Amino acid sequence: MKKNGKNCNIYDLKLFKINGFDVLLHKILKQTREVLNAEAGSIYTINGDSLDFKVFQNDFMNYEQIYLQYLDLKGLKLPLDKNNKYIAVDSLLKEKIIVVNDIYNTNKYEFLGVKEYDKNNNYETYSLITAPIIHPIDNSKLGVIQLINKLRSGKKVDFKEKDKDTLSIVSSLIALTISQAENDSLKLKELNDELKVANEKLTKKVEHEIGENEKKSAIIYHQSKLASMGEMIGNIAHQWRQPLSAISTLASGLSYNIELDNYNKNETIDGLNKIVDTTKYLSETIDDFRDFYRIDKSAKEFNIASNIHQSVSITNASLYENKIEVKYYLDKSLTYYGFENELKQALLNILQNSKDAFYINNEDIKKIIFIYLEKINNTIYIKIKDNAGGIEEKYLKKIFRKNFTTKDEHKGTGIGLYMTKVIVEKSFSGNIKAENCQFEYENKQCKGALFTIEFQAK
Ligand SMILES: Nc1ncnc2c1ncn2[C@@H]1O[C@H](COP(=O)(O)OP(=O)(O)OP(=O)(O)O)[C@@H](O)[C@H]1O
Ligand SMILES: [Mg+2]
Repeated sequence: MKKNGKNCNIYDLKLFKINGFDVLLHKILKQTREVLNAEAGSIYTINGDSLDFKVFQNDFMNYEQIYLQYLDLKGLKLPLDKNNKYIAVDSLLKEKIIVVNDIYNTNKYEFLGVKEYDKNNNYETYSLITAPIIHPIDNSKLGVIQLINKLRSGKKVDFKEKDKDTLSIVSSLIALTISQAENDSLKLKELNDELKVANEKLTKKVEHEIGENEKKSAIIYHQSKLASMGEMIGNIAHQWRQPLSAISTLASGLSYNIELDNYNKNETIDGLNKIVDTTKYLSETIDDFRDFYRIDKSAKEFNIASNIHQSVSITNASLYENKIEVKYYLDKSLTYYGFENELKQALLNILQNSKDAFYINNEDIKKIIFIYLEKINNTIYIKIKDNAGGIEEKYLKKIFRKNFTTKDEHKGTGIGLYMTKVIVEKSFSGNIKAENCQFEYENKQCKGALFTIEFQAK
C-alpha cells in the first residue's frame, strides 16, 4: 500500500468501492483543504432527516488506515435534531459557519466522536471549522463540510474570520456543483433509460452494438465532467479571491472616509461603481461555471471565438498561477450551430494537457499557448499549440485511445483526449489530429504539441 502523502489520491475507485459522486466529493474536499490549508476534513450530505457521512481524508494516515476507517464510517448517520450536540448538525440547522479552536477546552459541543477518534489514532484535533452547504440560489440545504486543523509551517493554528469568508464562498460553489451533479445524474439516468428502450428496439434490428456504445460514451463523458468539476472549485475560489479583497478594500476605504466626514461625491460614486463592476465580474464567473456544467439540451448557434474565450476563462486562474500566457489569433466572425458546452469540454481537455505538459517539462521558459481559429474554403480549423516540449513520437499514435496516459497513476486517467475525439467526431462530424511542431517565437526556438480540430462550417 502506498503512503498517503500529498501526492496520493484517496479517491481510488477500486480500492474504496466508491461511486462517481463520491469521487467528486473527494476532489472537492481535497481542493477545499488546499485552499484553507487544513490537515483533514469530511463531507456529509443530507438524506431525509439525517446527515449521512460521505467522505473523509487527511494527510497523516497511510492509505490502508484511511481505507479501514472509511469502511467503519460508511453507514454513519447524524439525525437532524436540534437537541443533539453535533457541531455539523448545529451548523446546518442554524445555517452558520462555526469555528472552534482548541476543542479540548470548549464545552459548547461534546466532540465525542472526534475525541474517540483522536484516542484511537493517537492524533490531536485542535481547530475545526464547519460550514453548511446551502444552494446560493434556491437556498436548499445539501450537506456540511468540516475541516480540521489549520496548518501554518507545520503547526496547528486557529481558523480565523478570513477562513470563514473563504469557506462561505467555497461552500456556495460546492452547493452549486453538488446540485448540478445530482441534476446531471438524473438526466443521465433518463438518457440511459431512453437508450435502454432504444437498445431493445435496436437489438431486434441487429444494430444493438451502436446503442451500447453510445450509452458507454455518455457515461464516460459524464464521468470526465464530474472529475473536472472538483478541480474547478479550486479554480473559482482562486479566481474570486482577488476581486473579493478588492471589494472589501474599496468598501472599507469609503466607509472610513465617510466616518471622517472627508468624502468627495465623485470619488465615492467612482468607488461604488468599481464595487458594482467587480460584483458583476464575480457573478459572470459563476455563470460561466454553471453554464459549463449544464448538459446541452439542444443545439444552438454560437460564436466559436467566444466559446474559445469562455473555455480559457474557466481555467484562467490556474493558467495565470502557472504563468502560462494565452495568445489568440481568432476569426471572430465564425459561428456554428451545435452543442457549445461540448466544444468547451473538448477544448478544456486540450488546454489541461498543455498545462500538465508545462508542469512536467518544468523548463525555465516563457510558457505560451497559441490558439488559432480560421475558416478555409468551407472548413473551420481550431488549432491549439504550446511550447511545452511536445509528445514523444512513440506515443503520438496512441494518445487518443481510451485510458492511454503517460502520467502518474493518480494524475491522469487517459480519458481527456479520448473524450475530445469522441466529441469532435460525433457532435461536430469532424476530425482531430496531433503532431509535434517547432517554431520561432520572439527570437526563441520553441518545441511543442499542436492539436488541430477541423469540421465543416454550417
Ligand atoms: N500538449 C501536450 N504535450 C505533451 N504531451 C501531451 C499533450 N497533450 C497530450 N499529451 C500526452 O497524451 C496523453 C493522453 O492525454 P489525455 O488527455 O487523453 O490523458 P491524460 O492527460 O494523461 O489523463 P486525463 O486527461 O484523463 O486526466 C498524456 O498522458 C500525454 O502523454
Ligand atoms: Mg488530459
